[in-house]
Amino acid sequence: MRCRDTARNTVLPSIDKIGSNGMKIPGSSYYILFLLILSSGNIFLPAPAFSQDGINIEFKDQGSIVRTLTLTELSNMADSIPLKVFEAHEKRERIYHAYPVRQLLDAIFGKSWEQSEEIVFTSTDGYQPSIPVARFLSHDAYFAFASADGTPFTLINILQNDELVKLGPLYLVWDNLQSKSLLNDGASGMPYQVIGIETTIFSIRYPNLSPVGKVSPQVKRGFLHFRKHCLACHTINGEGGGKAPELNYPNSVVEYFKPDYLVRWIENPTSIRYNTTMPALAKETPNRAQVIQEIIAYLKAMSAAKHDPKRIP
Ligand code: HEC
Repeated sequence: MRCRDTARNTVLPSIDKIGSNGMKIPGSSYYILFLLILSSGNIFLPAPAFSQDGINIEFKDQGSIVRTLTLTELSNMADSIPLKVFEAHEKRERIYHAYPVRQLLDAIFGKSWEQSEEIVFTSTDGYQPSIPVARFLSHDAYFAFASADGTPFTLINILQNDELVKLGPLYLVWDNLQSKSLLNDGASGMPYQVIGIETTIFSIRYPNLSPVGKVSPQVKRGFLHFRKHCLACHTINGEGGGKAPELNYPNSVVEYFKPDYLVRWIENPTSIRYNTTMPALAKETPNRAQVIQEIIAYLKAMSAAKHDPKRIP
């Protein structure tokens, strides 16, 4: 089994959260679980679904709040099933208890959500992917809320330097075992720690992300790849996810990275920076080398379209 020893580097944030600051503890996840029980002052560790129940999940439409629900309220609106998925963060199969996404969105937004363009998911760690509505209509997505095999509702993210992460309150998963296209997407459409769900029109939500002027087909494709593979973590002109650095303003990465290093960075970040938590572009991505070139073409186009994030609009 890989990666148990690396837990030492990565459990600290979760231990900090429950109030035992600064303890450096090597050891297995059982030991960590033991510590969690001790420091929570509660011998009876509640089931994951209920321990999360203080957290509110916010549903929005174009910036306006539609509903705010606890997990218990949410559980009354949909039927849970056990779902076996290919867990792209661990590269193995796992089983989760999960609610069908379409059923929940119907109950919360009515059918109107299907007319929207994209759904933006907000995670507590700043990850914020925008996923096309079309993908929810053509594939079956689920909100997982607990493990179905008695294991903790956590995973070890081998794509991010073996980081141990909590998955709750909600974790977006897909019925992906039979779908080549979903498997090819790797973990890009699988946000965990989801606390916000917003239906949007992309160009209204992100006015300063689109390349301007005469745009080549290569840059257009690069923009779509960037949205799918990079935007959840990074911002361009201040717009996008809050988990990783801005890439365009005031200086674009294409200005200060040597070109061949930028390619290598996207291909295999740890070959450049030891221990970085940026994941490599999914190995399964079809035409991966070309996709990387197209993403860089988009970044170059945006370096000529800088916009001060503080300036409105
Ligand atoms: C899961 C989150 C995540 C995703 C997805 C992601 N990155 Fe990153 N990226 C990071 C983090 C975190 C850093 C900072 C890492 C570090 O400094 O070691 C980073 C750093 C970078 C840097 C270096 C910035 C600098 O000035 O040092 C570049 C360039 C970059 N990412 C480009 C991309 C591109 C292009 C994509 C899409 C193919 C992408 N990233 C996808 C998390 C992510």
